[in-house]
Amino acid sequence: MSAVRPTAPARASISVRGVTKRFEIPREPSFLALQEANLEVSPGEFLALVGPSGCGKSTLLRLMSGLIPPSEGEIWVGDTRVEGPQADFSTVFQSPRLLPWKTVEENVALPLRLGRRRATPAKREVRDRVAELLDLVQLSAFARRYPGELSGGMQQRVSIARSLVTSASILLMDEPFGALDAFTREYLNEELLSIWKATGRTIVFVTHDMDEAVFLADRVAVMGAQPGRIIDVIDIDLPRERDGGIRTEAAFFDSVRRVRKAMGSTGRRADPEPAPAAESTEGVHA
Ligand SMILES: Nc1ncnc2c1ncn2[C@@H]1O[C@H](COP(=O)(O)OP(=O)(O)OP(=O)(O)O)[C@@H](O)[C@H]1O
Ligand SMILES: [Mg+2]
Repeated sequence: MSAVRPTAPARASISVRGVTKRFEIPREPSFLALQEANLEVSPGEFLALVGPSGCGKSTLLRLMSGLIPPSEGEIWVGDTRVEGPQADFSTVFQSPRLLPWKTVEENVALPLRLGRRRATPAKREVRDRVAELLDLVQLSAFARRYPGELSGGMQQRVSIARSLVTSASILLMDEPFGALDAFTREYLNEELLSIWKATGRTIVFVTHDMDEAVFLADRVAVMGAQPGRIIDVIDIDLPRERDGGIRTEAAFFDSVRRVRKAMGSTGRRADPEPAPAAESTEGVHA
């Protein structure tokens, strides 16, 4: 299991209250991407978000982290209203967004260097922490490489390591394991659960993969498209101690079936084509 040291067990809730998001598009009517979303994420909860392509999953994450403002409604983190980018969030974007002129280890360390000066840990501590995280994502041998010298899945693993380097109490992960092979994906699923347990982070995790959602989450929020909305939130009644063995148990299949049924009622394909890698122009946010 992971050698990554637990960071401060900060715990934070997220409250999405009646949030609607319209995008203004030149020469077109505004686009309703998310309609009246309500969602309560408890402190320390692991919530998965599933839904067809274009239903607003990434939009909801960007709203939560304050990168974009809601058109209507409010988002709260604990007792603070979200009104701009939050220091308490760490995000893994759908595309890796690494700085191409920095090495792998420099990219992973970046959120620590961007933090407030007084809060920046000593050089040696940074180096040790980065080394632990690169070991976790099985990239120790590539620490001195540049992102352009890595495969897409390796770049995504660097961005996962980067998201874990700070002690931000909320981790937003947008299809972080989508580009990985099945073995690496299942290994990182288990590692993520052990990090989550050790640190008490609140995690919101977007995936197209219903098995992955059920394996990881306390609850799965199912979204529908046109307009994007939350149509159901399903409790996953599985023991919290989960390892790969649980994937073959009847209770696991039963939970997947419930999620699949809710997805079916969105009237769209459950597993759409992978989304295009490029998103918008936001920079590193951690
Ligand atoms: N900045 C923007 N301007 C205009 N429309 C946008 C913008 N960002 C997202 N949209 C639209 O909002 C809808 C939801 O997009 P979003 O990226 O949240 O979907 P998603 O559920 O994450 O999809 P995927 O599973 O393919 O990643 C899409 O129709 C998209 O075209
Ligand atoms: Mg998306």
